[in-house]
Amino acid sequence: MSSSTTSPTLDEIVALSKRRGFVYPTSEIYGGLANAYEYGPNGVELLRKIKNLWWEFFISKRSDMLGLDSQIILHPRTWEASGHVSSFTDPLVEDQVTHKRYRADHLIESWLSKHSLDNPPVVESMSVQDMSQFISANNIKSPDGNPLSAAKSFNLLFETSIGVVADESNKVYLRGETAQGIFSNFKQIVDSNRVKLPFGVGQIGKSFRNEITTGQFIFRTLEFEQAEIEYFFNPKDTDWQVLFKDWQDKMWQFVTEILGINPDKLRWRRHEDSERSFYSKDTYDLEYQYPFGWKELWGIAYRTDYDLKQHMEFSGRSLEYIDPLTQEKFIPHVIEPAVGINRLLLMVLCDAYRPDAQRERLVLELQPKLAPYQVAVFPLLKNKPELVDRAKTVYQLLQNNYRVTWDERGNIGKRYLSQDEIGTPYCVTIDFETLENDSVTVRHRDTATQERIKINDLEGWLQDKLLR
Ligand code: GAP
Repeated sequence: MSSSTTSPTLDEIVALSKRRGFVYPTSEIYGGLANAYEYGPNGVELLRKIKNLWWEFFISKRSDMLGLDSQIILHPRTWEASGHVSSFTDPLVEDQVTHKRYRADHLIESWLSKHSLDNPPVVESMSVQDMSQFISANNIKSPDGNPLSAAKSFNLLFETSIGVVADESNKVYLRGETAQGIFSNFKQIVDSNRVKLPFGVGQIGKSFRNEITTGQFIFRTLEFEQAEIEYFFNPKDTDWQVLFKDWQDKMWQFVTEILGINPDKLRWRRHEDSERSFYSKDTYDLEYQYPFGWKELWGIAYRTDYDLKQHMEFSGRSLEYIDPLTQEKFIPHVIEPAVGINRLLLMVLCDAYRPDAQRERLVLELQPKLAPYQVAVFPLLKNKPELVDRAKTVYQLLQNNYRVTWDERGNIGKRYLSQDEIGTPYCVTIDFETLENDSVTVRHRDTATQERIKINDLEGWLQDKLLR
């Protein structure tokens, strides 16, 4: 196939996701809900595979890493200690006529992309006041053309309450990041495991943010899954810059080698001093070129000992580590690589999207290990019981070791096209020749070429291809 090298548009990705059961709009029968999506039967397979690969690469295969599954609702003091209650905010402006709300920084970025200034401001570094001034000095309007309010800080934490009385004393938050569950469990993890610094704790779980930006599909949602690592070390023994670089290399390796993403679409961006959180000594974003531009996929920050110190102060409990050899007592420092699983999935879909030059045939060139199904099995004709029965035996045989799908609808060409769109690497067809010599037609997704393989050799052949 001569495939098109043009990157997909976001609309194409959204359409494919819905058509092929990767991602649906949430609550569609009720008119949907902004910034919320469901993962359909193929999406959930892809999501699981990405999570499993992350877990295997960063936790299971490393002797210096442990896993954790902490709660979504933690003690509310956690979020006071972490600074989220006071400063986990986005700059918000309101359309004075429609009362729709927008991120001030995003409106300024969009204005800047259409106007060339001699000295454009670095938007990430602007304070809420700077943004208000810039909006009014340049007469920036809302997307509906109306005047905007002054910018103000809007807290992203979702609040709820425990029990029947919804007052201040029962107020809790849905976690805004999984990281804080790792910090607040640090002491219990050290006490209950034979771990020695440096070591890390990773977890995958849902986080919640009251995001007001719309229109970026699953890139920015109210509810999303994070995969976060807190890697603890003694800054006297370990050079943080070497460790930081090592983690950057691991992130790059995971994305390019394990997920097979095109490195030309990836780049590092270092945070400006003014943009960085005050507790972080250095922060980089690994950015991917999404259909709406270069955006943060994965962040890595050197958070020093800030979080453990804060939790010590707010809980009154010691979170110090005692070195077993020297008996030195200190608060470990931490490097944090934090990624959103949903952003990984969006990247994987965008990177694998290959329409042919006429945009008539679309192939999702997923790595075989990521494809929702590794094999599809078809009887050539559904009204020939001898073909259907033989195909069922092959289907059951392959099911022992692979995720296999079955299709007997319509003509064979349409079945191939439908498997191409969900990224199934191999289709196995049972035809009349099968009945004569026990061979099947195996069709390759990426080249659309076909070859005949004996049923007895099929499992070994697939194993060889799929495990590469
Ligand atoms: N513990 C650090 C932390 O949470 P972050 O940069 O705010 O840092 C980490 O989030 C990662 O989580 C981001 O790089 C991104 O991949 C993902 N993420 C953040 N907000 C998100 C949202 N609203 N929707 C989807 N993914 C999000």
